[in-house]
Amino acid sequence: MADFVSSGWSIYISAVTTVSILFCVWLCWVLASKKAAGSSVETTGHVWDETLAEYNNPLPRWWLYLFYITIAFAVGYLVLYPGFGASKGQFGWSQVGQYETEVQKAKAVYEPLFTRYLSQDIKQVAADPEARAMGERLYLTYCVQCHGSDARGSRGFPNLSDKDWLYGGDPEKIKETILGGRQGMMPPMAAAVGEAADVENVANYVLSLSQSGHDPAKAALGKAKFGACAACHGPDGTGNPALGAPNLTDKTWLYGGGVATIIESINKGRSNQMPAFKDLLGEGKAHVLSAYVWSLSNGSGSKVAQH
Ligand code: HEC
Ligand code: HEC
Repeated sequence: MADFVSSGWSIYISAVTTVSILFCVWLCWVLASKKAAGSSVETTGHVWDETLAEYNNPLPRWWLYLFYITIAFAVGYLVLYPGFGASKGQFGWSQVGQYETEVQKAKAVYEPLFTRYLSQDIKQVAADPEARAMGERLYLTYCVQCHGSDARGSRGFPNLSDKDWLYGGDPEKIKETILGGRQGMMPPMAAAVGEAADVENVANYVLSLSQSGHDPAKAALGKAKFGACAACHGPDGTGNPALGAPNLTDKTWLYGGGVATIIESINKGRSNQMPAFKDLLGEGKAHVLSAYVWSLSNGSGSKVAQH
């Protein structure tokens, strides 16, 4: 068992187990052999209600044999199953092994329900109400905690029900996101921009791109400094889905659209991770889930197909 940090623990546990079992055997043996010879039975010396005394008789035989049976059971158990220090037991059973067998069994039963959709285009899958319902259940199990029960996200967790995408909203892109995860990285940019005043000016320029509340004089000064941002957000600020760099020209914000928040993004940078679900879900479930997520911002696939 690799669970022990050192073989010392295994030896310690084996020793404690052996001593305990031997102690039980010894205890039974002492209790059995202490059978009072002859007719006179000693009392324990306790007396209640003036005359009620407790005899010190040995255990009845059948009771004693029950104890021996439990001891034999324990020894048998320790031979067959893990429990004696690091011993794996003759059966080689383990909780992990049992869990994995059960997962394999469940996969064999349920996987085909999902993999049969693999031959269909994701938009086509999205048109199938049954597949969408399956996708919704997957969403509610694996995605709600971060993207919300209505899929509208929250600060730092993108909205999946609108048409604004960090990494692109094509069904294939969504599937790529789900399978492989995403890591959005913006380095701290204050040094590249200049003084605190420069950072504030760029922040105002960023806000001007989406006609959000800003100071036009500061924005005009900040425009030249936006060159430091263009490599990722594009010269016009519309973002780059290959990097997950958000579009700064719309009013959809991952972290908030106030000047203070934008200054914070510039000064500290941002790092954000969407975990990969390839191992947990497998291809079939990811396919069905992608169809559901895509349908959130595109209506059901059938409606789209009519356009
Ligand atoms: C632990 C939190 C977490 C969980 C769970 C999670 N996500 Fe995400 N997801 C994120 C974060 C954070 C981002 C944004 C990553 C970034 O900013 O680069 C993201 C991004 C995405 C995107 C890209 C959005 C865009 O605008 O391009 C999609 C699609 C997505 N998640 C779908 C899912 C689905 C489907 C599930 C359920 C299987 C899921 N996520 C589970 C945190 C999570
Ligand atoms: C190396 C690429 C890179 C550079 C350079 C960069 N950014 Fe970013 N920026 C990103 C990425 C990627 C994100 C998304 C981070 C995330 O997913 O959490 C982001 C996020 C932001 C956000 C948050 C947007 C929102 O929706 O809340 C703002 C604002 C921002 N950047 C502004 C700037 C400004 C201004 C500059 C130049 C001073 C700049 N960025 C330079 C990659 C970059």
